[in-house]
Amino acid sequence: MTTLPDTRRPVLNTALPGPKSAAIMARDGQQLSTSYMRPYPFVPDHGEGVWLTDPDGNTMLDFFAGIAVSTTGYNHPHVVKAIQEQAAKFMHVCLTDYPQEVTTSLAERLVKYVEQPGEKWRVFFGNSGAEAVEAAVKLARNHTGRTHIISTIGSFHGRTYGAITLTGSKTKYKRGFGPLLPNVSHVPYPNPFRPPLGSTPETCGDAVLAHVEMLFKTVLPPDEVAAFIIEPMQGEGGYIVPPASFLPKLRALCDQHGILLIFDEVQAGMGRTGRMFSFQQFEQYGNVQPDIITMAKGIASGLPLSAMLAKESVMTWAPGSHGSTFGGNPVAAAAAHATLDLLDGTVRHPGCGESLMHNAAEVGRYILAELRVMQQHFPFLGDVRGEGLFIGLEFVTPDGQPDGKLRDRASQAMFERGLLNLDCGESVIRVSPPLILTREEAEVGLQIMREALASL
Ligand SMILES: Cc1ncc(COP(=O)(O)O)c(C=O)c1O
Repeated sequence: MTTLPDTRRPVLNTALPGPKSAAIMARDGQQLSTSYMRPYPFVPDHGEGVWLTDPDGNTMLDFFAGIAVSTTGYNHPHVVKAIQEQAAKFMHVCLTDYPQEVTTSLAERLVKYVEQPGEKWRVFFGNSGAEAVEAAVKLARNHTGRTHIISTIGSFHGRTYGAITLTGSKTKYKRGFGPLLPNVSHVPYPNPFRPPLGSTPETCGDAVLAHVEMLFKTVLPPDEVAAFIIEPMQGEGGYIVPPASFLPKLRALCDQHGILLIFDEVQAGMGRTGRMFSFQQFEQYGNVQPDIITMAKGIASGLPLSAMLAKESVMTWAPGSHGSTFGGNPVAAAAAHATLDLLDGTVRHPGCGESLMHNAAEVGRYILAELRVMQQHFPFLGDVRGEGLFIGLEFVTPDGQPDGKLRDRASQAMFERGLLNLDCGESVIRVSPPLILTREEAEVGLQIMREALASL
């Protein structure tokens, strides 16, 4: 419920970082883990709506939402109120042992977004995306009695041991950390812009499925495969949308071999693509119902919460076999209720139509159309793709190869003009703003992008 005028622009009082931010960055550099990256010299101090301000008074427009997390923007009054009210009641009693109404009703609510007639679902709560993924893999093995998991190249599933094993985006996540989880295979992701296995944009889905079937005949007995885990739209790998027919065909292949299908909706889920979950964009092309769904990031507007939803027929593990001290924290659950209120339109956010999901679809369409116009002027924009506010811009060399260096320069040029953004894939900038972004605010960001791209 931002009170800011739609015409608001970034404010850059100082070069970044300003003196106060620089002092914090220096302490941060001395004290925090060497694994943290610091590609952008910005230190958030407070936020409002889609704007973040640093201690030096510089205000940036946020086009990445803390990696697709801050769905309702910063300090949304409806979310803040829910957090305050729950914090004043109680902040923790371990859900593994004691039921709590706020989490019970959250579970009841989450399954309603995916349940189909005659099929009940259950929910396990964790704190992070990786924790939801770990739970999904443990459940799949436990339920099927099989061990093997298939994942995809380019995927990101988190950084715990099971999750980094499944992750297929960059070797730096694995180098020096082995041994990893045994019995995990990776197959190409059907990327229409860079079709794998000698395929075309039209045939890349079928080519991947043929590759999986070849593995089943030669090296990987399908009756030893517990699950196939996939992002229905790939996030860290480059904001990639697969061909429409791919997921229904993958569902059919899994059914043929009794393999569970896990959709990792951690990044693309929670309304970002214009539907609650990104797989639902493909429902019109056939059966895409998974057996297990993982979600986190945007679920609670920034409080740590994740959920692993599974069909009741699959969630057969025994009491005590899995749990989490903090998972399903009641304050995070209250924040999730308030977030869902805004996402599904139970509570309206002024200026964002009937729901934030609806707004994501509409403003996303506008951004995508404007980026496609920009593509005409800047030939190094090889591809512009996405659904809703899940949009990727891929930078290419004149001969069409990924141009990561140019992407980095573009990203810095946008940042220096007041636009917080984030890379992904080999040469992609992702556009993943809070879902409360208005068309006018989107236009401010697009104008910064135009100027930044023209400066390269
Ligand atoms: C699709 C996907 N799955 C899982 C994860 C891991 O989430 P977390 O960092 O909360 O553990 C991420 C994080 O980027 C993700 O994008």
